[in-house]
Amino acid sequence: MRTAVSMDGLTKAYGRKLALAGVTLEIDRGITGLLGPNGAGKTTLMRMLATVLRPSGGALRLLDRDPRDTGERTEIRRRLGYLPQDPGFHQHFTAFEFVDYIATLKEWVDRDARHAEVRRVLRAVSLDEVAHRRIRALSGGMRRRVALAQALLGSPELLVLDEPTAGLDPQQRLQFRELVSDAAESSAVVLSTHQTEDVAALCSRVVALRDGAVAFDGSPAALADLARGRVWVSDMRDAGATVAWRTGDGAHRHVGAAPAGARIVEPTLEDGYLMLLGTAALPAVAA
Ligand SMILES: Nc1ncnc2c1ncn2[C@@H]1O[C@H](COP(=O)(O)OP(=O)(O)O)[C@@H](O)[C@H]1O
Ligand SMILES: [Mg+2]
Repeated sequence: MRTAVSMDGLTKAYGRKLALAGVTLEIDRGITGLLGPNGAGKTTLMRMLATVLRPSGGALRLLDRDPRDTGERTEIRRRLGYLPQDPGFHQHFTAFEFVDYIATLKEWVDRDARHAEVRRVLRAVSLDEVAHRRIRALSGGMRRRVALAQALLGSPELLVLDEPTAGLDPQQRLQFRELVSDAAESSAVVLSTHQTEDVAALCSRVVALRDGAVAFDGSPAALADLARGRVWVSDMRDAGATVAWRTGDGAHRHVGAAPAGARIVEPTLEDGYLMLLGTAALPAVAA
């Protein structure tokens, strides 16, 4: 397979705001998870991978082609699947009509072959039974899956998914993981998420963005390892922790500089991620 994504010093400015401040990455086969707090630049990066946004500076190659060249951009788009963070729907379309419409834009000219492909991707996201319902009558999770279905059309070589699990219930999330693992056998997948469990369960590699720059790039286990020796539990809240929260069983879990004699536990990927972010972006902390 060609190198799916190659970025060198990639920048993006919106007016005076530098949303990406020089990102250098090579992405290949497998599933790469993009983590980062809101505003870190994930969507900006993914829109560049999807050829809908031009970089302000730096070099970008997608599937060994140059997205600035009109002809090569078309070649990239033929091999690309993209799930935007906020896909605009034609609400009066049925799920089938919408995915069929996107397939038409993707140059599936032969009607029978196109319809077969539309049915295949709708079945893959378990929407075959509601395929002929109007999108406006579908639940949020179903709409998310309609959007995912169109990204899967034609088994793309590069699959770019911006927050694909947002709004999915736990069962749908499991189903999604299976779907993406299958897709990753033949393509490079880049997905952004706020769910560290998705990354732990799915990704072979995790890239964390902070303020438009790469703050971490490595395996999920290596991200968890950032917090090794720095996660402890106790019955009382420890004021010295960088982050602390009460777990379901009533114990307090802490991340930070552990005091002497602390009950150190095995770090999770989320612990490592919180360690990386420091106090800048805390989850809801239970009092
Ligand atoms: N179209 C835009 N115009 C101006 N600023 C933008 C635009 N899109 C994003 N930004 C800014 O760029 C930064 C990165 O945004 P974004 O890529 O959406 O981050 P994320 O997806 O990680 O939340 C944020 O500060 C955001 O406000
Ligand atoms: Mg975003």
